[in-house]
Amino acid sequence: MTQRTARITFSDSDQVIDLPVLEGTLGTDVIDTRSLGAHGYFTFDPGFLSTASCTSSITYIDGDAGLLYYRGYPIEQLAQHSDFMEVSYLLLHGELPTAQQKADFNNTVRYHTMLHDQMAYFFRGFRRDAHPMAVMVGMVGAMSAFYRDSSDPFDPVQREIAAYRLLAKVPTIAAWSYKYNVGMPFMYPQNRLGFAENFLYMMFATPCEDYHPNPVLSRALDRILILHADHEQNASTSTVRVAGSSGANPFACIAAGIASLWGPLHGGANEAVLKMLEEIGDVSRIGEVIQRAKDRSNPFRLMGFGHRIYKNMDPRAALMRQTCHEVLDELGLHDDPLFRIALKLEEIALQDDYFIEKKLYPNVDFYSGIVLRALGIPMSMFTAIFALARTAGWVAQWYEMVSAAGHKIARPRQLYTGEQRRDYLPIELR
Ligand code: SDX
Repeated sequence: MTQRTARITFSDSDQVIDLPVLEGTLGTDVIDTRSLGAHGYFTFDPGFLSTASCTSSITYIDGDAGLLYYRGYPIEQLAQHSDFMEVSYLLLHGELPTAQQKADFNNTVRYHTMLHDQMAYFFRGFRRDAHPMAVMVGMVGAMSAFYRDSSDPFDPVQREIAAYRLLAKVPTIAAWSYKYNVGMPFMYPQNRLGFAENFLYMMFATPCEDYHPNPVLSRALDRILILHADHEQNASTSTVRVAGSSGANPFACIAAGIASLWGPLHGGANEAVLKMLEEIGDVSRIGEVIQRAKDRSNPFRLMGFGHRIYKNMDPRAALMRQTCHEVLDELGLHDDPLFRIALKLEEIALQDDYFIEKKLYPNVDFYSGIVLRALGIPMSMFTAIFALARTAGWVAQWYEMVSAAGHKIARPRQLYTGEQRRDYLPIELR
């Protein structure tokens, strides 16, 4: 089959540039512009609206149809039938595990959940009121200092150990970031518990009494982790890939991803949504908030709405809304005022011409805060939970990149708009 090409012609010269068109398994074809520099041009795409940064076989998103597949499996099926550890295996290895593979993976992660004991002292360098995300950035980055025997990304054995250590220890770091924040003693991971149960134990247990996580709530948290596990080349995953492209150690790369996720336009949106719902306070004030969000002169955005890719309902938002109903019913909170406001806000926004025209739908962050709050998770920990889940995707994406032959350091170019060459001016002449 002949190679399809895209042809660039110029209005002011007879220069012609033919570029290969590459096709993936699913989704949008790409124009391979790697040779464009040799023709004297760069592409220009701040924010990467139309730029594919890599090839990947991990996650597929169809924003118009509202589809999300992890290794080809629809998110709806994984949310219903799978669990977060199995999804982590799938993202990393590309296939669903056999029963033995799943048991081995779970055990390997389980027996890596403890931190080097010196790290417990490391927390003490932070102010007690430090945001848990600040602590997580610092502590995950500090893993570079404690686990140097698994820091070479180009050594397959070290790469695998680092992947397990990150999957296993980030939840412990997240839970201990919370315990430190509230001045409570650290609770060590319990090998008898499942992944989500163990996290709830480390968050809410105390040395003073037994703690048994509610199975319905543990299952809800596990589903939330599945929904947040990976999402193609989003800002934080791209950050991890750019950091990893220089050969930086895996712990530093994941710490960079945590830092990027923290932004309110990205993973920090779930915390911002709850603050917005609390500020709205009553369904009677929804109209006023919608107007503010539509006012182009006002920087206010409806948090939890809109998405770079989804121009249809984010499939995760629908699953999160369903989880909201289940958790609030289990807890007898079906009249939760913030959930009522969120449901009404979604209903009104989706009927508003502005949101319809700009194709702004609820995204994964719109309902997640309500569920997490109902689970007793404090708002300051919402993004930390997102980071805990996304560690599975970040590790899989990093692993895919560093395992590939011939990957190159990420080094974008620019359109220079600064001064022409000029000579130094002595200070007395300025
Ligand atoms: C996540 O990339 C991922 O996959 C991210 C994520 C993942 O799993 O990794 O899905 C997780 O980050 C979800 C998004 C969470 N963020 C928010 O909920 C914050 C609110 N949303 C917006 O800030 C915005 O929608 C973004 C950041 C999510 C997307 O920004 P884009 O793609 O750069 O779009 P844009 O800002 O250019 O908006 C397009 C238009 C603009 O109007 P015009 O300039 O064309 O007139 O839509 C408007 C925006 O003003 N708009 C909104 C809006 N979102 C976009 N107006 C009001 N409220 C909003 N929420």
